[in-house]
Amino acid sequence: MSDLPNEVTFGGARPLVGELRVPGDKSISHRAVMLASLAHGRSTLSGLATGGDVRATMRAFSSLGASVKADGTSATVTGSGFDGLREPDDVIDCDNSGTTMRLLAGIVSGRSFVSVLTGDQSLRKRPMARVAEPLRSMGATIDGRDDGRLAPLVVRGGALRGIDFVSEVASAQVKSSILLAGLQAEGTTTVEEPARSRDHTERMLGALGAPLSTDGLRVSVRAGTWEGFELAVPADPSSAAFFAVGAAITPGSDLLLRDLALNPTRIAFAEVLRRMGAQIEIIEREMRLGEPVGDLHVRHSELRATVIEGDEIPSLLDEIPALAVAAAFADGVTEIHNAEELIVKESNRIGTIHQELTQLGVGCEPLPDGLIIRGGTPRSTKLKSHGDHRIAMAGAIAANALDGATTVRGWRAVASSYPEFHEHLATLTS
Ligand code: S3P
Repeated sequence: MSDLPNEVTFGGARPLVGELRVPGDKSISHRAVMLASLAHGRSTLSGLATGGDVRATMRAFSSLGASVKADGTSATVTGSGFDGLREPDDVIDCDNSGTTMRLLAGIVSGRSFVSVLTGDQSLRKRPMARVAEPLRSMGATIDGRDDGRLAPLVVRGGALRGIDFVSEVASAQVKSSILLAGLQAEGTTTVEEPARSRDHTERMLGALGAPLSTDGLRVSVRAGTWEGFELAVPADPSSAAFFAVGAAITPGSDLLLRDLALNPTRIAFAEVLRRMGAQIEIIEREMRLGEPVGDLHVRHSELRATVIEGDEIPSLLDEIPALAVAAAFADGVTEIHNAEELIVKESNRIGTIHQELTQLGVGCEPLPDGLIIRGGTPRSTKLKSHGDHRIAMAGAIAANALDGATTVRGWRAVASSYPEFHEHLATLTS
């Protein structure tokens, strides 16, 4: 969002007090727009994520021929099934959004036309072989830079056959991409992952009545269709995590984060904060299109170090920038292992977290698959976003807990997921 300032100064150890509903969940919003565009009939979506990533998905489906009428955080989407999609007359720009590019690659792989998918400088560096290879084995023709490993990707879709795919990475984007291709393929398509990644695609497709079944870490689909639907997208726990950590580390805080997606594959960060000694309560209220929704209540308390590793990692990978700040303020040495996927996010987050914590005066050691963080007394300073929205917001909550003034440069990066972050923080700290 071009009207965001390029740097913002925070500070003053201001407690986070009150209630907040952060914008709609980004992962659910992407899928809502996609599944609505692929449905037969009209869907009514509200509470959609406000950032550039989901706007990129809406633009992509408009250019593929679905009718997507957005009005603020609501949208009316009319689709005519997979067969309603048309060859786009221009390159599809996925901007900063890995979810848009990887899921879209699966969708257009089953269409007998050519799509060219590109993105910004960061997305064009992110690995695409993880989707291109299985989609090729289903029958799609996919080319791209570096032998088809990097975007721009050129996808010539067509008739697909189901595969039994064992993924090396626990990635919801990879899983969803193959499942969305599988919904157009002959026979059954199965994806097996090494650990459970976020399961929104499965929950939402299941609630819509698509032919999907799960068996432990294996998910299978057959070709299927569904009707238009209504969805009020719950708030994004990954955005809420910054405020949860902010409240946990800033004395005097008492914060209620409302209407959140409480999918267990998304809120492992709350369990980690609890383990660190945070006063945190999860209140489940209802189910929406297969997704549990409710509130999170967080109060300040002294935190202690923990170890974050193993199967827990895929359920909190996006929250590691926020949890790293919690660790920086905690007593003791926190270890994060098995998180090598951090390297291929919007920035190399092992490198960028290490750099920014060091800048805050926190002892931090990068590992090939994680970080060692020696909690203590961070000091106010100048921080950078490295063009990564989550590094910018992590910097902001660290800064907010400190006495002096801390500037976060490259603030505009927050536009991809949470343009209103600074405004929302101000309503809790004033
Ligand atoms: C997402 C999956 C995760 C996550 C990303 C959103 C999704 O990526 O980090 O922010 O909506 O499917 P990976 O699939 O690469 O782990």
